[in-house]
Amino acid sequence: MAVLYNDTEKIFSLNTKNTTYQIKVDSYGYLLHLYYGKTVNTSMEYMLTYSDRSFSGNPYAAGNDRTYSLDVLPQEFPVQGTGDYRSVALIIREENGCCDFSLHYKGHSITDGKYSLKGLPAAYSEEKAQTLEIVLKDSRTGIEVTLLYGVIEDCDIITRSVKVKNSGSENIYIEKIASACLDFLYGNYDAITFYGRHAMERNINRTPVTHGIQSIGSKRGTSSHQYNPFVILAAEDATESAGECYGAAFVYSGNFLAGFERDQFDQIRFLMGLSDEMFSYRLGIGEEFYAPEVLLSYTDMGLNRLSQNFHYCIREHICRGQYKDQLRPVLINSWEACYFDFNGETLCQLAGQAAELGIELLVLDDGWFGERNDDNSSLGDWYANEKKLGMDLKSLSEKIHKKGLLFGIWIEPEMVSENSRLYRSHPEWALQIPGKKPVRGRNQLILDFSNPEVVQYMFDSISSVLCQCEINYVKWDMNRSISDVYSINAVYQGNVLYDYMLGVYSLLDRLTGAFPDILWEGCSGGGGRFDAGMMYYTPQIWCSDNTDAVDRIYIQYGTSFCYPLSVTGSHVSAVPNHQTGRVTDIDIRGCVAMTGAFGYELDLMALTQDEKTKIKQQIQNYHKLAPLLKKGHYYRLSNPFKDGLGVWEVIDSSKETVLLSIILLNVHGNMPVVYIKLQGLDSTKYYKNTENGKVYPGSGLMQYGFPVLAKPGSYPSFQILFERVL
Ligand code: GLA
Repeated sequence: MAVLYNDTEKIFSLNTKNTTYQIKVDSYGYLLHLYYGKTVNTSMEYMLTYSDRSFSGNPYAAGNDRTYSLDVLPQEFPVQGTGDYRSVALIIREENGCCDFSLHYKGHSITDGKYSLKGLPAAYSEEKAQTLEIVLKDSRTGIEVTLLYGVIEDCDIITRSVKVKNSGSENIYIEKIASACLDFLYGNYDAITFYGRHAMERNINRTPVTHGIQSIGSKRGTSSHQYNPFVILAAEDATESAGECYGAAFVYSGNFLAGFERDQFDQIRFLMGLSDEMFSYRLGIGEEFYAPEVLLSYTDMGLNRLSQNFHYCIREHICRGQYKDQLRPVLINSWEACYFDFNGETLCQLAGQAAELGIELLVLDDGWFGERNDDNSSLGDWYANEKKLGMDLKSLSEKIHKKGLLFGIWIEPEMVSENSRLYRSHPEWALQIPGKKPVRGRNQLILDFSNPEVVQYMFDSISSVLCQCEINYVKWDMNRSISDVYSINAVYQGNVLYDYMLGVYSLLDRLTGAFPDILWEGCSGGGGRFDAGMMYYTPQIWCSDNTDAVDRIYIQYGTSFCYPLSVTGSHVSAVPNHQTGRVTDIDIRGCVAMTGAFGYELDLMALTQDEKTKIKQQIQNYHKLAPLLKKGHYYRLSNPFKDGLGVWEVIDSSKETVLLSIILLNVHGNMPVVYIKLQGLDSTKYYKNTENGKVYPGSGLMQYGFPVLAKPGSYPSFQILFERVL
């Protein structure tokens, strides 16, 4: 059983394949966190110690026992008002401004299967999962809090979420709510976080958790390019292949906060949840609020294993729809091929050339709708610009399909241009504060998705495009940070940003439900909303607007800590690269893009014959590798930030096929040989390099390495496929 409850000791044990998580209801009815780590079969209560700590208050119920303080004890869900002065998971304000309350155990339930969350994305699992719900109550205010735990055994994932119910007699205001809290009694841990910027997302930062509070988060209304909602707490000696580490991924695409605190007694508290800035959620009498889910995983086998747990969980328990398992078509995207400069005829030419090369899907990116010839107008006007195309969308779709390609379009449903029909008829649908001029971003405003009327309009508008003709793919973009949070429809403005996300999710849910055959790709200026929340609706996301193969090695390296290759949109683009001006060989561009949701984004009409031949070969090669890339185990074999190398490996679960990708980032004269140690092979077997037939012992490749001799070029790349032979 995944969830066990010992009624005598009042201890819950949540067990996955390799981990245990333990919670105790103590004698005062408080929930204490006992343990999270490698599987244990006994109670870990003996780890709790009690002593009189000055200035750490004692609950009244403890009477004269000054050794009992929630300021010191490890807690499962600390709230404001119990004498715990560390960061808390929940702050609720009453109408009169009072923020103190106290939660006590009221009951629990254990059920088979994994819970789902109303209106929010969440991991799902029909088999091998259980749910624990623990109900806590504050008797004075009637506030009822239910802690939800999902135990997904096969990938060592424990999920957490929280439901708050206002069972009192007046409105309450949730001022802060974390979905998960982890208290550690001791230990030296590093916080690993992923920072970045537009076109250079998910760089890695590793710093010791020191006294005080360190935090990352977003208040841009999206999960953001700047900090990804995935963090790791790693033992200071943890490496890629050994050591203890905990990962936490937020299944949410809006504002978030992840904080690490080392307290006066060197204990560590980790919290992850919604951002408390720009948030104050009014909950009316009888209403319920759901905090988005956090996925937690633990391993003592190092960072790479932690990543593999998340890859599996996201692939199998987050991504949905027919493209969850189906191989994705190789695409050509019109953006870097022609930007706004196209018509129906030129698109057909592009499609013709694409078909010759073996490309399977043409994506018509920005510029096909309203009167959009640059990025200053028409967002909101989701009907084809027939004047520009020289035909209607149906004829275009038919022509593309006749060339043997699937057809896809780009949309940005959450946005409106002031220069649009939609804005002229409904200015009140844009987020704007009465009496204040709004902040613009890319010369566009944001539609008020907290208003169900707006969501309904967008559903009708986008559906009518998708019904007009055969559309096989949709790229859903979101190209600015949110500001001017004010809805004409809101009962309370503090609710708007969270309700906006619910509106986005509801539109995604309805559209993906109504058009289940479409492949949906997420995007927010590349990787500005690259999170497990979006992945629940869109099984792939454009990873970055930076298509430079060398920069992508760094970006995809950081991305790989949480997210699998199958969700990571990656394209071969032109040189000199449009973002960096760098010139790289077509081989390295292919090698990097292929280890992602693969495609091309360049003017195919401008290719040389040699490039065309190479692209044809690349696509054939990709088809051979696609099943392995989709489901294989991923290993990072270098840190490009430190090693001057990009090296990664993908191996299938039966250890028969291994793809090794190597790019030398620093080339010098008379280069020493580079030796790469592979991982996860069968050490008793031999592996053949399929290109030259050379055979290597699996044990040798793992223990001593694979020699790589540099070849000429600025960034020599090697893509080596090994097959197990003996
Ligand atoms: C964003 C996306 C790009 C492209 C443009 C179109 O920047 O990330 O891929 O779709 O918008 O305007």
